[in-house]
Amino acid sequence: MEIKTQILPPDQRRSLPSDKALGFGKIFTDHMLVMPYDAKQGWHEPEVRPYGPFSLDPAAMVLHYGQAIFEGLKAYRGQDDGIYLFRPLANLERMNRSATRMCMPTLPVETVFAGLKALLQIDADWVPPADNGASLYVRPTMVATEAGLGVRPAMEYLFFIILSPVGAYYPEGFNPVKIYVTDKYVRAVPGGVGEAKTAGNYAASIMAAVEAQQEGFTQVLWLDAKERRLVEEVGTMNIFFVFKDRIVTPPLSGTILPGITRDSVLRLLADWNLPVEERSITIDEVFAANERGELREVFGTGTAAVISPVGSLHYKGRDCLINRGKIGELALRLFNELTAIQYGRQADPHGWVVRL
Ligand code: COI
Repeated sequence: MEIKTQILPPDQRRSLPSDKALGFGKIFTDHMLVMPYDAKQGWHEPEVRPYGPFSLDPAAMVLHYGQAIFEGLKAYRGQDDGIYLFRPLANLERMNRSATRMCMPTLPVETVFAGLKALLQIDADWVPPADNGASLYVRPTMVATEAGLGVRPAMEYLFFIILSPVGAYYPEGFNPVKIYVTDKYVRAVPGGVGEAKTAGNYAASIMAAVEAQQEGFTQVLWLDAKERRLVEEVGTMNIFFVFKDRIVTPPLSGTILPGITRDSVLRLLADWNLPVEERSITIDEVFAANERGELREVFGTGTAAVISPVGSLHYKGRDCLINRGKIGELALRLFNELTAIQYGRQADPHGWVVRL
């Protein structure tokens, strides 16, 4: 499919703000990619056009029944001034798995990737310099646009990609975060949509996050819905525990997000011959190991969060202080390795990086 382009004249283009911290997802670039779908034509007319509001029918099915999925990946400015994408096809493939789970149409990956590259070339100046871990966050999204109130799969959709120059996701930056372990709320149930990157999962997580933040915590750690003992994931990241003789992360059992950073970390740990187990782990096991002095580090992984050290866990009124609340050695090593690959500073033996 040919990608049409409609580009703003130079005098209407804005530029990357240099005077203030970028934060996360607050500023958007000049253009976006849009591509509609209907049952007759399928996906058609992909177009890069100026960033701006959509017009939606008030009966658009996404507004009522929540058929909405999204992805998150990043474009990085290399030292050679080139633009690097990290595992973009893995994100698009995951988006298609989310689409299938939500009865939404799958995307033509080649066309979307060509559209993403065209969009990035047009808004290339918005990819920030690498200072303090800045990058251009890429947000592909798909929503049901058909007007109708029957509960069934919609027959019309809109796919779009918007871009946002970002800094660190957490206000703490790379400093350890304080996590609240909730057994009051759950994020996902077996057989549900926990492994799909669908908007409703995030909507359902907000109340627990707000309550945790009111108590001074950064994020929530979710436990399984059945027994409320097994560790699942943190609000916006997967989680790893480093014990004295092994590293453990919960398995992809259908209720957690199959993180691309999680997968990359598992491969780096294997490259380094470190013993890793993807297995169920209870929160009691984590606290008990900490009491025995065997819990060395805890960290989260995610596109937005990158590698995020966890300084403490709070559960049922008890606190588990990890590594004296300091950044762990392994988290730092992983952060350095991963970001060196992402910014094109280092050899990429897995073929993860695509230079534009
Ligand atoms: C990402 O890490 O890209 C995510 O999608 C998390 C986001 C909800 C902030």
